[in-house]
Amino acid sequence: LKLFFMTHPSLQSDCELCPRLVDFREDNRASYPEFHNAPVPSFGTLDARLLIVGLAPGLKGANQTGRPFTGDYAGDLLYATLLKFGFATGAYGATAEDGLKLQDVRITNAVRCVPPQNKPVGAEVKNCRPFLTQEIEAMEKLEIILALGTLAHNGVLSSLGFKQSAAKFGHCKFHELAPDLLLADSYHCSRYNTNTGRLTEEMFCDVFAAIKERL
Ligand code: URA
Repeated sequence: LKLFFMTHPSLQSDCELCPRLVDFREDNRASYPEFHNAPVPSFGTLDARLLIVGLAPGLKGANQTGRPFTGDYAGDLLYATLLKFGFATGAYGATAEDGLKLQDVRITNAVRCVPPQNKPVGAEVKNCRPFLTQEIEAMEKLEIILALGTLAHNGVLSSLGFKQSAAKFGHCKFHELAPDLLLADSYHCSRYNTNTGRLTEEMFCDVFAAIKERL
């Protein structure tokens, strides 16, 4: 485990795999020197049974605080829901120092560096894929991967060597990836999706209730 952290390249703050994201990081280091401005490490322990996969850090959310989904709108809904279902304890305070503890859950992103306009391009997802693969392989007790949005769904499939046709994204759908591993889907808990009504709080809770039942 120690070796994993020492050698895990996505935890190196100067990863250079994506030139566009490196440029953006350098700009952000100049504009917001107090921000994290580096690949955002996963949150939660590797012995969790549930892995939540988001898209990429938000500029003033995870890229600022250094913790996935922390400090932006998507995190408000995600952490409130995790607390409601006992997947987290403590209180969410929108900073990495709020003392919130995840219970049996780990949270990561398909792309670990903040992309311009919140939109990673295909090559960036591909470059970051080995880190997702390593992450999944390091979770020995993993039972369910929850993909937030189609990009995360597709990223999880390809990180495990599946074709995109192996499982079609559907909100609150569960796909059997292996006898002991399920992929669950939810629409992403972004402000856009909740404002447009694509995802309601109730629909998001349905996903976690279904996960609880299956763990
Ligand atoms: N913050 C993250 O860390 N990931 C997302 O997908 C959205 C916001």
